[in-house]
Amino acid sequence: MVDVDSENLGEPLPRAEDLRHFQGRTRMIETHLDSLSGQLPIGGLAVDVGCGLGMGAIALANRGFASIGVDIDSSNRLLPFALTQARKSGLVANLTLTEEGLPLPLPNSRQVLLVHGDAADLQVADNSVDLVTAFYVSGPRSERDHWTDIAQRCLRVLKPGAPILITTEDGSREGLAKGMLRGLGFTSVSSEPIRTPGVLDTCVIIGRKPFAP
Ligand SMILES: C[S@@+](CC[C@H](N)C(=O)[O-])C[C@H]1O[C@@H](n2cnc3c(N)ncnc32)[C@H](O)[C@@H]1O
Repeated sequence: MVDVDSENLGEPLPRAEDLRHFQGRTRMIETHLDSLSGQLPIGGLAVDVGCGLGMGAIALANRGFASIGVDIDSSNRLLPFALTQARKSGLVANLTLTEEGLPLPLPNSRQVLLVHGDAADLQVADNSVDLVTAFYVSGPRSERDHWTDIAQRCLRVLKPGAPILITTEDGSREGLAKGMLRGLGFTSVSSEPIRTPGVLDTCVIIGRKPFAP
């Protein structure tokens, strides 16, 4: 495992388009988290799958979670950007380059751990996570296989009764995502459209890990 800090990365100047995307997407994610706050835990350990530039993982940490943001991207651009943004917002943040032996942040600690790797292989203990989020994630493999692998891993690491929150780029994927969650054994699967004027119409889906297998 290699820990990387911003000194080693030389803090490259962020690209303007990354900053714009980060700010716009952060607003969307904050809206989702606000509108669903009654259905989400108020703290603990959260995992943001496909964290990209870090908006979800940072938003969750700013709400009191210890968050793990995991992304498979190999450009060496997204996660360093996320690390810089997390530290700018006053969070304790680290980036690790493999998913082995993660130095897990303590629940409720307002820390962010960014992990470069496949969320389907995330090395987090079973039954240890209070919330999984996946904001606008699509993948390199066929959507069904990709999501099934990731969601199966999420099901294992979630605590019994804990939620998974998925957003889709558009409402047309709602049925696919809900069917997949139900097929894997998630319960209380529900969805709602989120309409933000001037922004993509999206869909938010929530499911819960059952208490009994
Ligand atoms: C459309 S971007 C969304 C990023 C961010 N969540 C957002 O809201 O802007 C999807 C991200 O998922 C990541 N991703 C795709 N498959 C993944 C996997 N199996 N494990 C981890 N990350 C994955 C991609 O690298 C990409 O950064």
